[in-house]
Amino acid sequence: MIRVAIDGPAGVGKSSTSKALAKYYGFAYLDTGAMYRACAWWCLRQGIDLDAEQVDEDAVLDAVGAFFTDGHFDIGVDPDDPRVTCDGEDISESIRSAEVSSHVSKVSNIIPVRHVLIAAQRAYIAREASEESFSCGLGVVAEGRDITTVVAPDAEVRVLLTAREEVRQARRGAQSAKAPGVVGKDDVAARDKADSKVTNFTEAADGVVTMDNSDMDFEQTLDTLIGLVDAAI
Ligand code: C5P
Repeated sequence: MIRVAIDGPAGVGKSSTSKALAKYYGFAYLDTGAMYRACAWWCLRQGIDLDAEQVDEDAVLDAVGAFFTDGHFDIGVDPDDPRVTCDGEDISESIRSAEVSSHVSKVSNIIPVRHVLIAAQRAYIAREASEESFSCGLGVVAEGRDITTVVAPDAEVRVLLTAREEVRQARRGAQSAKAPGVVGKDDVAARDKADSKVTNFTEAADGVVTMDNSDMDFEQTLDTLIGLVDAAI
């Protein structure tokens, strides 16, 4: 069983490469950013004012708690179909909107909310990594901001994926132009600034491999990751 933890800032290409890596090995894939996005989407839908100077953190925590414990939320871990649903409604596209991107840090910055999500993420990883209940292969690729340090610091492979800011901004812009109805406008610099208050995804923790893919294309990034996983198998 192999757990691969990949962290990095917005727009670095974590999701596409992590998904391809999971597919290559037949592993499960966990997009933890999608979980935070789904929570922000849910809070907005509940009418919680995430633009308020002082966001009502108790209201957000109650809403997020109910979202998970009352069974509204589900996320697929098959890299071919990592669909996010709420009460059976496919929200995979809605959570990539500009509205959600610009509000997600308001939710992910609330520490008790993080505790709820971290517990859920650890449970997914443990389930996918266990022999009896695996749904894909004997391994999982989980990506986010705090997987290498907090969620799965004992993962067999831990990588910090980075790229220069202008490269990341250009990549996100290209994604948005390719799928304008799906990937909304996203100020990656503003999001990174807000996110770095609660997570450290700019400096690698001990034992974490740093990979700067500014000058690599998708295939080169994937091949390098495959090399790291092969070495751990
Ligand atoms: O990865 P993605 O850009 O979709 O993540 C969306 C947001 O979710 C991030 O901007 C951050 O606020 C939050 N996040 C987090 N911790 C993670 C993954 C994502 O706080 N492990």
